Amino acid sequence: MFFRILLLSLAVFALSANRAAAFSNGLVAASCESMLPGHSTFMPQNSASPYTVSTSMSYYKPGDSVTVTLEAAGNSSAFLGFMLQARVIGGRVPVGCFTSINSSLYQGLDCNNSPNSSVSHQSAIEKTQLQVTWEAPLNVAPGDIMFCGTFVKNYQLFWVAVNSPPVKMVGVPSSFEPGMRPDHQH
Ligand SMILES: *[C@@H]1O[C@H](CO)[C@@H](O)[C@H](O)[C@H]1NC(C)=O
Ligand SMILES: *[C@@H]1O[C@H](CO)[C@@H](O)[C@H](O)[C@H]1NC(C)=O
Ligand SMILES: *[C@@H]1O[C@H](CO)[C@@H](O)[C@H](O)[C@H]1NC(C)=O
Repeated sequence: MFFRILLLSLAVFALSANRAAAFSNGLVAASCESMLPGHSTFMPQNSASPYTVSTSMSYYKPGDSVTVTLEAAGNSSAFLGFMLQARVIGGRVPVGCFTSINSSLYQGLDCNNSPNSSVSHQSAIEKTQLQVTWEAPLNVAPGDIMFCGTFVKNYQLFWVAVNSPPVKMVGVPSSFEPGMRPDHQH
């Protein structure tokens, strides 16, 4: 289902990029929802991703930091580009934000009016493993999440919807409904 939406999005988003494997930044970032790089004439690969997304924790509390590792599995060759977001499972907007972004290697993207809610590569140097830090929101209880990645091996070859295992939300009072703000309790 999600994948079909991505394929449909491909027809809609025709973002041009001067740089191979680029993701856009700015107020209207077409890649935010589709997580497709600006390669409008190519389709994502259907094969199993040679790259993986994993997390330092399988649960989080509001305000927690989670280290997310992106890597080439086994002897897979390096990737040049990536994009990563935390999403509520089944959702399509990013939650939380990435912190301590090393701006010589990575860039934070402003998706859904939320600065640094996505992160992508800055330089197209070859990468086989990297780590970024994500911080859970303090005042919202989004529910269980996963990290959703795109990996770009080269201009023609990229994989989307490469997901981490679920990261469950814990430590939120049971009177909160998922997505509810603590200051909006009945
Ligand atoms: C990686 O490649 C080396 C040398 O070709 C091989 O010995 C090794 O088993 C491979 N490892 C994996 C995980 O495929
Ligand atoms: C986004 O990340 C950059 C790089 O770490 C940082 O300079 C900037 O302050 C962050 N923006 C916000 C709103 O946190
Ligand atoms: C950012 O990355 C560059 C290139 O790898 C490295 O030289 C620098 O030390 C890093 N900065 C921080 C604050 O980690």
